[in-house]
Amino acid sequence: MKWTSSLAGLLSLSTLVSAQSDSESFVDADTGITFQSATNSEGVTYRLALPADASAEKAYDVIIQIVAPVELGWVGWAWGGAMTYNPLTVVWANGNNVVYSSRQAIGYYTPIQYEEAKYTVLKGTSVNATHFKFTAVCAGCASWADFDGNPTTLDGTSQVNFAYAYSTTPVDDPSTGESGFSIHDSVGHWTHDLGAARSDKFSSWVAANKASNATLRRHLRVGRYGY
Ligand code: HEM
Repeated sequence: MKWTSSLAGLLSLSTLVSAQSDSESFVDADTGITFQSATNSEGVTYRLALPADASAEKAYDVIIQIVAPVELGWVGWAWGGAMTYNPLTVVWANGNNVVYSSRQAIGYYTPIQYEEAKYTVLKGTSVNATHFKFTAVCAGCASWADFDGNPTTLDGTSQVNFAYAYSTTPVDDPSTGESGFSIHDSVGHWTHDLGAARSDKFSSWVAANKASNATLRRHLRVGRYGY
């Protein structure tokens, strides 16, 4: 009996520890990349893969993947876990294309263009009858200057809080990442396990999934940042 109750104690402890993160391992068939993946109650999935040495000590690139119901007007990822003064990744479908927009909010109104985060779109970016899927390397999503200008880098060894937002209202001009859009219908937070998202395959995943511009152009219309 003693053994049983200690085992029960251990099990509940491990449940508590693993409950700190909302993300789990997921292998994406389109790219072969192993992501840490979290899906929110609205059915939007946020995925992340990091280089093996990612930490808070220096800036690093990340591979991101967002999968969302095609009927949503836009979905967003707030890298600092709040709306203002951190990189925002906003994506939407435009017919058979996926459009991304790099933004930063400097108040509780439409976020402005944010040029400090650069995206290289990868294979695994497409639209089907139900969902759109965006996959990219981002340089400048995991590091930014905070409100006071102090550099901040997400601790790639630990669990990190992110925020999401989405709207069912289409953006003003879906063909361009510079489009205006209106306020979210919902926002929320989740915890992502960055330590478990790290892999020494990071560089080979990026190299293997860089599509030719011609291929990407068929699937993607981007704003002024290009790819
Ligand atoms: C036209 C665009 C947008 C408008 C007008 C807008 C407006 C607002 C307003 C007024 C609030 C405060 C709500 C309250 O405190 O009750 C809020 C909160 C929030 N917004 Fe937005 N928002 C926009 C776009 C975005 C985007 C693109 C994201 C993320 C990618 C985002 C993430 C959040 C989050 C996480 C909160 C919760 C409070 C916080 O973190 O400060 N918003 N927004």
